[in-house]
Amino acid sequence: MSSHRVALWSRARRLALGLAGAVVLAMGWTGVPAARAAGRCGETARRPWCDTSLSPEKRAGLLLGALTEDERISLLGGDDLTGVLGIDPNDHTGVGAGVPRVGLPSVNYTDGPVGPRQGPATALPVPLALAATWDPALARAHGAVVGGEAADKGNDVVFGPTVNIMRTPLGGRTYEAYGEDPWLVSRMAVGWIRGAQSQGVIANVKHFAANNQEGDAGAAADRSAPGQPLGPPPVEGNRLLVNANVDERTLHEVYLPQFEAAVREAHVGSVMCSYNRLNGPYACENAHLLRDILKREWGFSGYLLADYGAAHDTLASLNGGLDFEPFPGVTYGPLAVRAALASGRVSRATIDEHVRRMLRTLFAFRFFDRAAFVNDDRQIDQAAHARSAQRIEESAITLLKNRGALPLSTRRERSIAVIGKGATTFVTGGGSGNVKPFSFSSPLQAIVRRAGPGARVGYDDGTDPERAARLSRGADVAIVFAGDYFTEGVDRRCLSLECPTFQGDQDGLIEKIAAANRNTVVVLQSGGPDLTPWRHRVRALVEAWYPGQRGGAALARVLFGDADPGGRLPVTFPGREADTPTAGDPQKYPGVGESETYKEGVFVGYRWYDAHRLAPASRSASASPTPPFAIAGSASGWRRTGAARHRASARR
Ligand code: BGC
Repeated sequence: MSSHRVALWSRARRLALGLAGAVVLAMGWTGVPAARAAGRCGETARRPWCDTSLSPEKRAGLLLGALTEDERISLLGGDDLTGVLGIDPNDHTGVGAGVPRVGLPSVNYTDGPVGPRQGPATALPVPLALAATWDPALARAHGAVVGGEAADKGNDVVFGPTVNIMRTPLGGRTYEAYGEDPWLVSRMAVGWIRGAQSQGVIANVKHFAANNQEGDAGAAADRSAPGQPLGPPPVEGNRLLVNANVDERTLHEVYLPQFEAAVREAHVGSVMCSYNRLNGPYACENAHLLRDILKREWGFSGYLLADYGAAHDTLASLNGGLDFEPFPGVTYGPLAVRAALASGRVSRATIDEHVRRMLRTLFAFRFFDRAAFVNDDRQIDQAAHARSAQRIEESAITLLKNRGALPLSTRRERSIAVIGKGATTFVTGGGSGNVKPFSFSSPLQAIVRRAGPGARVGYDDGTDPERAARLSRGADVAIVFAGDYFTEGVDRRCLSLECPTFQGDQDGLIEKIAAANRNTVVVLQSGGPDLTPWRHRVRALVEAWYPGQRGGAALARVLFGDADPGGRLPVTFPGREADTPTAGDPQKYPGVGESETYKEGVFVGYRWYDAHRLAPASRSASASPTPPFAIAGSASGWRRTGAARHRASARR
């Protein structure tokens, strides 16, 4: 079959699954429309759980009853050791083995919130960029692309979305989540999960809970750079060990609402418990969090799995509410679980309950009633997904300052100096949210194309600031590309563009260019807030976030006024690092003796700046004269010109 036909067929299948899924979800998993055996499940005479007219609960009970004790135990732990390395495109991030005797297929898992981490994929704008759109419909579109590609790479579960709140902008995974406001994060999470699950895959909301930092690696953090798996290991406040002390009110008002929305509104199929301890016990053995809040209070009916290596104590996890350990199935390995049973301190009913949850979720998502998803990239409609990536990015680009420099005009700007490596390279974050793009066209290429044959576009990578300044001096406009690097595994050491250091002195470069050319525009490709000390010396500042594989095209359209910069800030940009909510007190961050206390309480993000009357750096482009400004309002300083105005009136 040609790849076009494969992609068409795949889309038709998605639509059918999506409709079925919508019915299941709308019915709250209690019942499924009547039909008999379907898909790969088998004959109802031999396998009564294959009867699709029965509820997922009933079917799970029937299958559970058919499993031996050893088989039930074998389902508690995953068995893929190498997939997490993301080296082989045929390797899923994780696999839970099935039970062939009863026709239970294995379940495949992949990262993550930005796209599948299994060979190349569509690199969408990162979740923080998505949050800047403030648009749940785009969150749904983002989720649908990721969920669809996860399925087309043969996966049943996708490890996303990441919904942890940005407590400190130093947090290494800031780019991977939706920012600092629980309401905005909740809306994005619900949209994303609905989109992903409409594709027939099970979403996995993570990391539950209060996993708000990676840890401080001291001076070593400055050496983190793209290409390293997880960055240098933290020495204080390490996510793997740290105990987050969070009072109950703050937990419920700031750190849990987005998980609750994922469960109650989006009916997410699975939840991932996090590495850290929360008020004492590790999150994955925290009965208050898992049993009392998640399962009892919120009525979560899916299954709970552990982050990779986050399960420690077999007994405490079994009794605490953890259902599945995907990697590497040691704490929940057969030996450990058997020993726990033999001790008499865990009951058979508890084991059964974990297995029942998994099976019920699989039935609810029609896992048995459809063919196995096949790993074949030809099923992916790459062109359509690239269009989604661009559409989301155009809505995400946020105008932080504009003193008349933008939009560019092909009549006025005849010569353009483009400065900085970010104009020619694919910029994104590291760790499990890292996606290798199917394709990439750079901002420089897009600017050259849009400026047209009449314009002169010069480029300098900025490694020699004097040389770059010379190029900029005679140009009608200088556009400097700067950026930062966030990665899972380690927090940034400071918020300046020099943390980490691998990109050299970007602040110095911007100052140089601004001195050489009065019409300097800075484009930030960042995974979170940065300090922008040069802001008053440049004419315009555009936040593009980590923009995905179509970032260049989106940016060129925005710079030239073909599209409005649609974004609003999902995070506050502080004026000074000392102003951030966790600054200046090691007990708050990164913690002392692997214990941190959320002393700022509910005053997270803009609430902190409000409460302490601290003026952040970023206001909307309309430069409201009344600080403090929190989450930015509309970028209303943008004046529609040319094509953008034309298109807007055509829409009316
Ligand atoms: C991350 C998870 C991820 C998992 C598998 C862990 O280190 O915290 O978010 O899903 O690895 O890659």
